[in-house]
Amino acid sequence: MVEWTDAERSTITGLWGKIDVGEIGPQALIRLLIVYPWTQRYFGGFGDLSTYAAICGNAKVANHGKTVMGGLETAVKNMDNIKNAYANLSIMHSEKLHVDPDNFRLLAECISVCVAAKFGPSVFTPAAQEAWQKFLAVVASALGRQYH
Ligand code: HEM
Repeated sequence: MVEWTDAERSTITGLWGKIDVGEIGPQALIRLLIVYPWTQRYFGGFGDLSTYAAICGNAKVANHGKTVMGGLETAVKNMDNIKNAYANLSIMHSEKLHVDPDNFRLLAECISVCVAAKFGPSVFTPAAQEAWQKFLAVVASALGRQYH
């Protein structure tokens, strides 16, 4: 079981309260698809992802980015039970979508870059980064939990 300090809890809930999922979610998924282009293979139904401009202007990408980022609310609300909270989503990504679980870590990295760029060093301090990346690492591990 993951242990959280009071400072980590308040940092994560505080940052989460500032995040607009409709802004950071699309930005993060766009970065994932551009920085790690092999991740495009999972989004065959999203239409044209062949250029930078196509990815940035793709409404399905933006929508799905918002969905994925909104999915983090589950973890924020269940910090002491993230693994169980994501059991079904993990099964879906594994058995139905066949998403390689390494990609969860890559998306987590893109989300952190977007949060850092948005809020800057006065909010995304080293201590905030420590708590936030720990949180996303627990999410990534929970999503990879049902793979076998
Ligand atoms: C669908 C969350 C990472 C690929 C979804 C859905 C959620 C979600 C909430 C919608 C579930 C539903 O429709 O019932 C997350 C979270 C992630 C994550 C919280 C990590 C922080 C990824 C990654 C990939 C991926 C890294 C691939 C590189 C997909 C695909 C779908 C999906 C292909 C279905 C899209 C569609 O056709 O509608 N995810 N996801 N996810 N996810 Fe993830």
